Amino acid sequence: MAIKRIFSGIQPTGDLHLGNYYGAVQNWVGLQNGDSETIYCVVDYHAITGGIEPEQLPQRSLQLAGDLIACGIDPERSILFVQSHVPEHTELAWVFNAFAAYGDLSRMTQFKDKSGRTKHVNSGLFTYPVLQAADILLYLADGVPVGEDQAQHLELTRGIARRFNQIAGVEFFPETQILLTEGKRIMSLADPTRKMGKSYGEKHYVGIMEPPKRVAKKIKSAVTDAGGESRDALSPGVANLLGLLRLAGKDVEADDFEAQALSGDLMYGYLKVAVADATVELLEPIQARRAALSDDDIRAILADGAARARDIAGSVMAEVRSLIGVGAGRI
Ligand code: TRP
Repeated sequence: MAIKRIFSGIQPTGDLHLGNYYGAVQNWVGLQNGDSETIYCVVDYHAITGGIEPEQLPQRSLQLAGDLIACGIDPERSILFVQSHVPEHTELAWVFNAFAAYGDLSRMTQFKDKSGRTKHVNSGLFTYPVLQAADILLYLADGVPVGEDQAQHLELTRGIARRFNQIAGVEFFPETQILLTEGKRIMSLADPTRKMGKSYGEKHYVGIMEPPKRVAKKIKSAVTDAGGESRDALSPGVANLLGLLRLAGKDVEADDFEAQALSGDLMYGYLKVAVADATVELLEPIQARRAALSDDDIRAILADGAARARDIAGSVMAEVRSLIGVGAGRI
């Protein structure tokens, strides 16, 4: 069945990096050319489960929205907005708390992961996937582009929708499909056995908005050989660099380097220069578009996005209230 409406979200937790770009944003941009409506959201209410930072959060949301636009999210073709600007998200999340099973939530691997690493385990971390289900179903979205790590949250979303429909006695929410972003797992430069992320530190990721010199420097210091591995298989670091080169559109060069690596005569330095050049080339137009965007431009786009999102969210939420028997004007 054709997907009618696509929704995805990203947390404003720091600079957008190459892992986010290749793993999500590039795919979001591509989906704008299809037949489905696309809605993209900066999920600030999710971000507060990782800590309350009232000084930084608004700036982070604004920055991220600007970065997304620079990467190609087009406000003419997509709705781009900030989650907290549409209060129905949290309202529906509360409703869904009455539909989500405690047992299911306690099996979420992301929760087990995060709660294991956190001192104060707030219940927002636990109900995080319920808010995510609300994000999606508030727009009756039937397609959600995410990576494999979100598959469990999507399964939970479908479960909530099913249970809601059953209890309400109507097929109100759609069966949302996961549009899996395949195989684009970018690893950390300094530890290529871990996924690229900001939480490990500066050396581990390449920020989309970093100056070309810094980008090149980081790539040139990437770990290529942890030592000890055999020569007839690619080391994780080399495999990651080859992946980055291919993603930057340099397949032919990558094939060449790969053959050299497998025959044991790859000069790591040449590979790194190629990856650095290709990455800088990719980032240049994005950074130029970003530089041309003022904060007020971004604010205007987000205000328009929120208004369009609220149109949909308002009517869906009105139906939900009526289906469960709450809301002003009903008593
Ligand atoms: N949980 C997602 C992540 O960590 C972010 C997210 C929040 C999301 N709400 C969403 C993704 C709705 C897709 C749809 O990456």
